[in-house]
Amino acid sequence: SDYMELYRPQIHFSPAKNWMNDPNGMVFLDGTYHLFFQHNPLGNDWGNMSWGHATSSDMIHWEEQPVALKRDELGDIFSGCAVVDKNNTAGFGQNAMVVFYTSAAEFQQQSMAYSLDNGKTFTRYEGNPVIPSSLKDFRDPKVFWHEESGKWVMCLAKGWNYGIEFWGSENLKDWKFLSEFKSPIERCNKGQWECPDLLRMSLDGKERWVLLVSVNPGGPCGGSGTMYFVGDFDGATFSPESLDYPQWIDYGPDNYAGVTWSNTGDRTLLIGWMNNWNYAGATPTSVWRSAMTLPRELKLISYEGRPLLTSTVVDEINGIADGWNDVASGVKMGVDKAYHLRLTLPTTENGSFTLRNNAGEKAEFILNAGAKKLLMRRNASTGNVSFNNTFSIPAIQAPLNTENDFVTFDIYVDSSSIEVFSENGAMAMTAIVFPGSIYDIVDSGNSTDVKVRNLKRIH
Ligand code: FRU
Repeated sequence: SDYMELYRPQIHFSPAKNWMNDPNGMVFLDGTYHLFFQHNPLGNDWGNMSWGHATSSDMIHWEEQPVALKRDELGDIFSGCAVVDKNNTAGFGQNAMVVFYTSAAEFQQQSMAYSLDNGKTFTRYEGNPVIPSSLKDFRDPKVFWHEESGKWVMCLAKGWNYGIEFWGSENLKDWKFLSEFKSPIERCNKGQWECPDLLRMSLDGKERWVLLVSVNPGGPCGGSGTMYFVGDFDGATFSPESLDYPQWIDYGPDNYAGVTWSNTGDRTLLIGWMNNWNYAGATPTSVWRSAMTLPRELKLISYEGRPLLTSTVVDEINGIADGWNDVASGVKMGVDKAYHLRLTLPTTENGSFTLRNNAGEKAEFILNAGAKKLLMRRNASTGNVSFNNTFSIPAIQAPLNTENDFVTFDIYVDSSSIEVFSENGAMAMTAIVFPGSIYDIVDSGNSTDVKVRNLKRIH
């Protein structure tokens, strides 16, 4: 593939060919970021679930590697994680890359494999499954080392039973049940719970734990979405503080199943699947299907006296950026196939701006000052909106999350996606779009300080 097909992402990871969904097994080891992913090596629809693999030194440029794990006698290889076993707790070898995944067949059980050559080849653990089960909904293991209690902790999602279980182990092989977290609020239980991640973060210098839970359906735009809970974790139990749940890591329709890289020190780095189960199987692309979001750095800040999870595109994006140019309204910007647009709107009055091409395809953005929201309309906006009737949602809506009189938006546009961030990442809104050619014109409305920098294609 030359990655030049219609709609092919130019600055996002997509597999050279065939189907992809969740990011899996993300780990940083010896200067390399690993990204495994739910993959059908044999076709452009969900099926034959395997782990594809890609590597990168900066999370922006990706090199696809051979498929890492294929279906075996225990079932399909569903989502999971990877850790570096620095102290050789499992006895596979110091710094072994140990991966956990769900063996999905009639029941969902947890299995393990390890690599002693930086993810090139894997050996299945002979004692699989490490967590046997007779549950139909029990999946997506995410493991981290909990220093204070000297053990590994695994988070597992319970699908239609709306819960996250925590399990503990000293050697990665023998696991004991610790506790189960249930949402304190019924309205978080509109869809199956999937792909959990528990993050140790700091807020104003104090430790806080953030639990990510992907939910499908029931997301902010219908279909898939990723919620977060903020609280405390004592090594066994997660206790949420009372916030107005659900809180979303992203208000757009197309950021799902995101989890963080393991072994990245103080940085909390997330990538999500840039799609939605409502229409993922119908998106009009070939020879591949789906891309990941841009990689994002997460932080916790205080906003209106409460914790708020922020996300910004990682600084490594600067490595593919040209210099900034001023943008004149209604005139072609002179960008190639992907770009970063920055503009400012007053929050004290209603406003708008539009991204379009000269074929009349457009994405409209409306700032509602009274509701303190940014709305995006992609229903009239894209060349191809008819492939699925849930794609044309009337409006995508996100809170501005600012008290200031002006808000600056950072907008990353690729051939078939738009990712909007308000300043400091206080709001994220990710949406896929399918215009026949990239939106290379901005009608700037009442926005000011409009500038753009070209982003160079990564292939
Ligand atoms: C989330 C998910 C996971 C599962 C995987 C199967 O999108 O449903 O729960 O492990 O996809 O491909």
